[in-house]
Amino acid sequence: MVHILNIEEDARKRNIPVMLDDGMEFILEYIKNNNVKSILEIGSAVGYSAIRFASVSDDIKVTTIEKNKDLYDEALNNISNFKLNDRINIILGDALEVEITGSYDLIFIDAAKSQYTKFFEKYKTLLVHDGCIITDNLAFHGLVDNPSLTKNRNTRQLVGKISRYIEFLKNNKEFKTEFYNRGDGISVSKRIAD
Ligand SMILES: C[S@@+](CC[C@H](N)C(=O)[O-])C[C@H]1O[C@@H](n2cnc3c(N)ncnc32)[C@H](O)[C@@H]1O
Repeated sequence: MVHILNIEEDARKRNIPVMLDDGMEFILEYIKNNNVKSILEIGSAVGYSAIRFASVSDDIKVTTIEKNKDLYDEALNNISNFKLNDRINIILGDALEVEITGSYDLIFIDAAKSQYTKFFEKYKTLLVHDGCIITDNLAFHGLVDNPSLTKNRNTRQLVGKISRYIEFLKNNKEFKTEFYNRGDGISVSKRIAD
């Protein structure tokens, strides 16, 4: 029997960026405290976070999107090993291209950082009225607050994109966002009541 911690450890060893423990705890608490039952995740990797989310309670359903075929296959295998095929629906494709239906209590953005704003704009329409969009990696290992720590051009560009996403969230007229210094930096965006 595979243990979830083996999946996590194995992914980290291979530099597959799965959620940090503190960020994971934060989201699991959110799921429990807010009675979340339907989750859409952008970025499955090997299925670690989807399996953790679905394991909170037997009536939670997760749809998760992964564009890398090898990771998708691995995630599918992990989901089968946990006998969660009926509650985790993994979709192979680019989240900006695939068409997803349904409505979700929680949308979790954990894929290409350069596309965060596009993911947010595309998927907000699938959020239930009082649902929330959670984004991970907003601190980007401390680089967002200290961009001078990197000399690498690509990394600097990515830091710039994350900073612009944070500004987009702060200035958003439709959603109010709280920022949390948990894990690698997490935001929780909820629709402003009208
Ligand atoms: C940070 S990892 C996800 C980790 C996972 N949520 C976890 O904590 O176990 C990001 C994943 O998003 C995938 N990805 C990046 N851009 C994507 C896109 N446009 N559509 C779908 N998946 C994407 C990558 O292939 C990668 O596996």
